[in-house]
Amino acid sequence: MTNNTKISIIGGGGNIGGALAYTLILKELANTIVLVDLNKNVAEGKALDLGQAAAFEEGKCDVIGTDDYSNIENSDVIVILAGFARKSESDTREILIDKNKGVMKSIAPMIAKHSPNSFVIVVTNPVDIIAWIMSNELNSLIKDFNYNKLIGLSGVLDGGRFQYFAAKAINSKNCSGDIVSPYDVQPMIIGSHNNKMMPMIRYSGVNGVSFEHIMNIEDLPADDVENIKKQTISGGGDIVKLLGTSAYFAPARAICKMIKAYTKNEKRLLCCSTRIESKDDKNGIYLGLPVIIGSEGVEKKINFKFTDEELKSFNNCSQEGIKILKESK
Ligand SMILES: NC(=O)c1ccc[n+]([C@@H]2O[C@H](COP(=O)([O-])OP(=O)(O)OC[C@H]3O[C@@H](n4cnc5c(N)ncnc54)[C@H](O)[C@@H]3O)[C@@H](O)[C@H]2O)c1
Repeated sequence: MTNNTKISIIGGGGNIGGALAYTLILKELANTIVLVDLNKNVAEGKALDLGQAAAFEEGKCDVIGTDDYSNIENSDVIVILAGFARKSESDTREILIDKNKGVMKSIAPMIAKHSPNSFVIVVTNPVDIIAWIMSNELNSLIKDFNYNKLIGLSGVLDGGRFQYFAAKAINSKNCSGDIVSPYDVQPMIIGSHNNKMMPMIRYSGVNGVSFEHIMNIEDLPADDVENIKKQTISGGGDIVKLLGTSAYFAPARAICKMIKAYTKNEKRLLCCSTRIESKDDKNGIYLGLPVIIGSEGVEKKINFKFTDEELKSFNNCSQEGIKILKESK
């Protein structure tokens, strides 16, 4: 990785773009941030504001706002936020597919032309489908395209939500106040980034103490654990109901964690939307799985030995992707 890290954010003039750039500045994770947006004025205005915010930090960071893709030349990381966000509950992620597919088709040639070796993080929803679409577009445009250099945001964000709700539930059982920090909760959320997502309780815990133990010994009722799962699954939708638009602070923080794992070669095990390689009809689609992220991108995919019930849920998560994959052939 270069010592002069350049992060380009496409659709960077929007809500997550601003929050992500600000977080990257505060954490000193970038020396150059490029906000590319159809709305040039907003991109330029946010870049000025962020550049001035960066003046308060020791680490130097230039922020460029533009609608000109030549500015993304040789980026280390490209984050894709461009597209349409959910504006109401009835605006499901799935309804967005057609609109956002067109957006990906317009962006992919720009990435192929100006920065074909970047690590690409797709955020635009429905993320598993859009990551798959973008990977196909880039594969058709870039010689020897490496699928390990493209992931989507899913389980890292959903995991943060799980940490928040799990700590709250555990702490509510203890009258003497907070005992568990959300930071110490280890989540494991796989499958699709929608209401079929799979919070894997048997792989989750608090600094090595399993949920099974917390339930049996510390008397956390099974109903409370079901509630943690439900709250995690509806976490994004509940914010849309209140704000009228998608969440952006937690998504920005989650993307930052993924960027750092790559730019600092951290070899972190993170649940990301990643390309499935299998002998069945799931082969080629994108779904959330734990992967190791380092300077090569996805360096290893962790395989699960699913129970029958988990396999049923994972297959259920894959239905939409398989349908779209078949229709595209
Ligand atoms: N994967 C996840 O976990 C997750 C979480 C939250 C939000 N999201 C998704 O992330 C995306 C961004 O969310 P947001 O809240 O920042 O949305 P937003 O509407 O605030 O920002 C999107 C930006 O994209 C720009 N844009 C649209 N089409 C473009 C194009 N062709 N080229 C360049 N820029 C373009 C818009 O002008 C806008 O500034 C949405 O699709 C949202 O659903 C995903």
